[in-house]
Amino acid sequence: MIRLAASADAPQVAAIYRPFCEGSHISFENDAPDEAEVASRIERINRRFPWLVDETGGTVAGFAYASPHRERAAYRWAVEVTVYVHERFRGRGVGRGLYAELFDRLRSQGLFKACAGIALPNPASQAFHESMGFTLVGIYRKIGYKLGAWWDVGWWQLALQPEIDPPPEPRPPAPIPLPKR
Ligand SMILES: CC(C)(COP(=O)(O)OP(=O)(O)OC[C@H]1O[C@@H](n2cnc3c(N)ncnc32)[C@H](O)[C@@H]1OP(=O)(O)O)[C@@H](O)C(=O)NCCC(=O)NCCS
Repeated sequence: MIRLAASADAPQVAAIYRPFCEGSHISFENDAPDEAEVASRIERINRRFPWLVDETGGTVAGFAYASPHRERAAYRWAVEVTVYVHERFRGRGVGRGLYAELFDRLRSQGLFKACAGIALPNPASQAFHESMGFTLVGIYRKIGYKLGAWWDVGWWQLALQPEIDPPPEPRPPAPIPLPKR
C-alpha cells in the first residue's frame, strides 16, 4: 500500500536510509539523520510535496519524496525526487510504484519537471530512473568528497507533463491521501 508518510514511519525510514549515509557515496550526508530528524523532515516535506511510503505487511518497503529543485521563484514548477527501497524489497516494483504515485500527485499539484541527482556510479538507480522515463542532462564532475574519494553526480530530468505558457501557480498537496494499492 502506498500512502503519505507520517512521523510514526520515521524509525523505519531512518533505518532504510542510514546505510547510504554511513557506508556509501550514494547519499552525500555523512551522519545519518536520527528518527527525530527524519520525522521532522517528513513533516516539513509533506507541507509542500508528497513524502510517500510503500507499506507491505506492516513494514516500510521503501519511500519516495519530492523537494524543491531550487528556491528561486522561476524554479517553482520543478522538483527534485528521491527514492530508497529496503534491500529485502528491491526488484519487485516497489520503486516504480512509489514514483508512479508520486508523479501523479505532483502533476495534480501543477508541477512540470522532476530532476534526480545520482551520485555515480549507481547502475541500479541510473537504470531505474531511465526505465521511468528520465534522461541524463549532465554530470557534475568530482563535485562531492566522501569516504576518501571525489564523486561525480549525474542529473536526470523527466517532463511530468507538457509545459503550459504561462503556467498556473503550483497548488498545495492534496490534504487527503489518494486511495491506491
Ligand atoms: C534504485 C532503486 C530505488 C530501485 O528500486 P526497486 O524497487 O528495486 O526498482 P523496481 O523493482 O521498481 O524496478 C523498476 C525498473 O527499474 C530498473 N531497475 C531497478 N533495479 C535495477 C537494477 N538493479 N539493475 C538494472 N535495472 C534496474 C528495471 O528496468 C526495473 O524494471 P523491471 O523490473 O521491469 O526490469 C533501488 O535499487 C534502491 O533503493 N537502491 C538503493 C538506494 C538508491 O540508490 N536510491 C537512489 C538514490 S539516487
